[in-house]
Amino acid sequence: MATMESLIGLVNRIQRACTVLGDHGGEGLSLWEALPTVAVVGGQSSGKSSVLESVVGRDFLPRGSGIVTRRPLVLQLHKIERGTEYAEFLHAPKKRFTDFASVRKEIADETDRITGKSKQISNIPIHLSIYSPNVVNLTLIDLPGLTKVAVEGQSESIVEDIENMVRSYVEKPNCIILAISPANQDIATSDAIKLAREVDPTGERTFGVVTKLDLMDKGTNALDVLEGRSYRLQHPWVGIVNRSQADINKNVDMIAARRKEQEYFESSPEYGHLASKMGAEYLAKLLSKHLETVIRQRIPSIIALINKTIDELNAELDRIGRPIGVDGGAQLYTILEMCRAFDKVFKEHLD
Ligand code: GDP
Ligand code: NA
Ligand code: MG
Repeated sequence: MATMESLIGLVNRIQRACTVLGDHGGEGLSLWEALPTVAVVGGQSSGKSSVLESVVGRDFLPRGSGIVTRRPLVLQLHKIERGTEYAEFLHAPKKRFTDFASVRKEIADETDRITGKSKQISNIPIHLSIYSPNVVNLTLIDLPGLTKVAVEGQSESIVEDIENMVRSYVEKPNCIILAISPANQDIATSDAIKLAREVDPTGERTFGVVTKLDLMDKGTNALDVLEGRSYRLQHPWVGIVNRSQADINKNVDMIAARRKEQEYFESSPEYGHLASKMGAEYLAKLLSKHLETVIRQRIPSIIALINKTIDELNAELDRIGRPIGVDGGAQLYTILEMCRAFDKVFKEHLD
């Protein structure tokens, strides 16, 4: 019988394969689009990168004021049974990163490599995989923050460019939206909720996340939002307390931060009754569980797509003519083999 992990892990592997294929031709991309992903959206400095790091339990994203995230980051988390955690980039497949400070530097360098040192943005994603015993299997996409004004050195169109880029991800019916809103701003004006409402009016694929609960004015609280009275979604809202800038400067590690977050909720007079359903660890489990349910529902259509891809690859290989040529053909053949293997494993998940 299939476990939750293996099913999401399988989809992770197909997505990686499709990405490689995407660099070499069209086939398989439709398969990628049929698979569910989770995209993190929100205004600039709403806490998107902090939430991602907290879900991973690791400190590895570039940060700072302004638009730090200027290319989509496709982050695949793979749970391993034992051993030390490490990271790998698709653009540098032979290199294993065990030092997460150098992962951060590599993301920044790779961003600059495409966008130049300018503050421009690019649609071309960076693909990062993290292998760790401490993660749940999940694919998350970090996107540039929605913004209202261009800054020095940016084109006038940047506000619109970012919104269009983010929309191109969240409008896909298979995209699960992690909508981040800071508690110290009015939820009604949240950029994340505004966009989510537009592309997912029934709220069936939106997870509302409220950050910065610790920064609310004294005497106010976010219960109306967290209990679904301010804006109703099909899924429960999750409140988060990330590390503050002071914590980051003091190098408070992620594990200590998670513990502090849990204590915050447990000892809170307002949120105490919700403590078991708050925090980054709970959010990670909630997302993983939801993703598993969605994938399970889609197994028959994923199998159909894999078979369509197999047919297309066979036709393409016939056209090229076997024996297989050096470049394209060999690549297609590898992918064909992979599709066959995926087809087999997915069918096992049917019973
Ligand atoms: P992003 O631009 O949306 O990716 O936001 P970041 O994750 O980079 O966070 C922006 C700033 O807000 C950083 O200085 C974080 O330390 C701070 N921050 C984010 N979430 C929280 C939170 O829940 N509480 C506090 N006190 N600070 C937070
Ligand atoms: Na930022
Ligand atoms: Mg960020």
